Amino acid sequence: MNEQAAGSPSRRSSLHGHWSSRLAFVMAVTGSAVGLGNIWKFPYVVGEYGGGAFVLIYLVAVFAVGLPIMTSEILLGRRGRRNPIATMRILGEEEGSTPHWQWLGGIGVLAGFLILSFYSVIAGWVLSYIVNSFTGAYSGADLDQVVSLFETTSSSLTISTIGHTVFMVMTAVVVALGVQHGLERAIRILMPLLMVLLLILVAYSYIEGDFARAVDFMFTPNFDALTSEAVLVALGQAFFTLSIGMGTVMAYGAYLPEGTPITSSALTVVLADTLIAILAGLVIFPIIFANGLDPASGPGLVFEALPLAFGQMPGGIYFGALFFVLVTFAAWTSSIGLIEPAVAWIVETFYRPRAEAAIIVALAAWLLGMGTVFSFSVGSDFVFWQGTIFDNVEYLSTNILLPLGGLLITVFAGWVLCRNSSSEELGVGTGFIYRGWRFMARFVAPAAVVLVFLHATGLVKL
Ligand code: PFF
Repeated sequence: MNEQAAGSPSRRSSLHGHWSSRLAFVMAVTGSAVGLGNIWKFPYVVGEYGGGAFVLIYLVAVFAVGLPIMTSEILLGRRGRRNPIATMRILGEEEGSTPHWQWLGGIGVLAGFLILSFYSVIAGWVLSYIVNSFTGAYSGADLDQVVSLFETTSSSLTISTIGHTVFMVMTAVVVALGVQHGLERAIRILMPLLMVLLLILVAYSYIEGDFARAVDFMFTPNFDALTSEAVLVALGQAFFTLSIGMGTVMAYGAYLPEGTPITSSALTVVLADTLIAILAGLVIFPIIFANGLDPASGPGLVFEALPLAFGQMPGGIYFGALFFVLVTFAAWTSSIGLIEPAVAWIVETFYRPRAEAAIIVALAAWLLGMGTVFSFSVGSDFVFWQGTIFDNVEYLSTNILLPLGGLLITVFAGWVLCRNSSSEELGVGTGFIYRGWRFMARFVAPAAVVLVFLHATGLVKL
């Protein structure tokens, strides 16, 4: 970022400088968006909720709800040019509404904290699979062996705790030292590499796996299998994977120079994120079907399918190690986006040094994350409401808080922000693109979120 604030003098400028280019901004937001949500979560929820119909609803959610909300978040971030809480307060006052919109920031802080707690545990498993690659733990393994390797990993308090701890420390160190940009620069090289590796793996799955059945499973909708819960999960997954609904994108938008196109930046991120998720599915499902793995086997799916493939392919150990390293980096750039809102909140509210705030938040998220560690081991029988502690933290953050945050963001951008403000900020005149965005932000996105909420809670039957 350079320190020069662009734009007309009457406009607010960021306190922390601006992105050096549009590409830097797009890469940073993509770095936050692409993570475990694409590689780990997308395939397992698709498998759990029945395939094609779920994918279709997910795609509709991404483009009809996610894209307008991401655009709104960037727009609000750039107009407010502060952290999400202050931005919402300032804009709320400026538009003649109430400063209470700042509470939206509270939802983001809480959602990020909750997600981070379990995200770190899953990323810890990824770390342990880097080790597994080098020790040859899955080389030549058959179905039973990869399933039992995952069982051993996830049910072992020691392995899960070590992985969780190492990953949380990695996240806290980057945020405490304020060296996010170094990591973001690295991801500029590593993300294209991840994409290339995924393409190679798709080719492998095409040759060795049951590709036709996988394509059929992923893209032929069977609406009989679709439940209202599945629709809520698809919506939650759209928010989770795009990192929207919690102010992270808003924070990044605060550093976007005037005049940079917002809609095309948002579209680029959404397309890249969706492409990576679909590619991950096309790698994993052919392997699943060729080897008789159950697509609905839950959070362990990727950790079973991929080692099965790596264990059989020539040079698979190196591919496997490289793949898990790249996924770790992708998760790392996402986790700093998750911890940042809480850290910023502590720094600004209690005037604590950044490093101290990072340690406090990481420690608290680590403690809560131990609940997820227990959910897959000794505490797997401890169930209430949605299931284990992991199930509850995940459901509350992903399926409730993110859509709620997204709803408030889009209502603010569509209804509270006046037409002049939003068209000036979006910078595409008042033609088709502007009207299209405003229609989606005012009507389609809020209505979809509200309907899905009401339907999932049983209040409305569609
Ligand atoms: N989008 C990330 C993923 O798909 O893994 C998760 C995430 C990161 C959500 C940052 C929200 C966020 F602010």
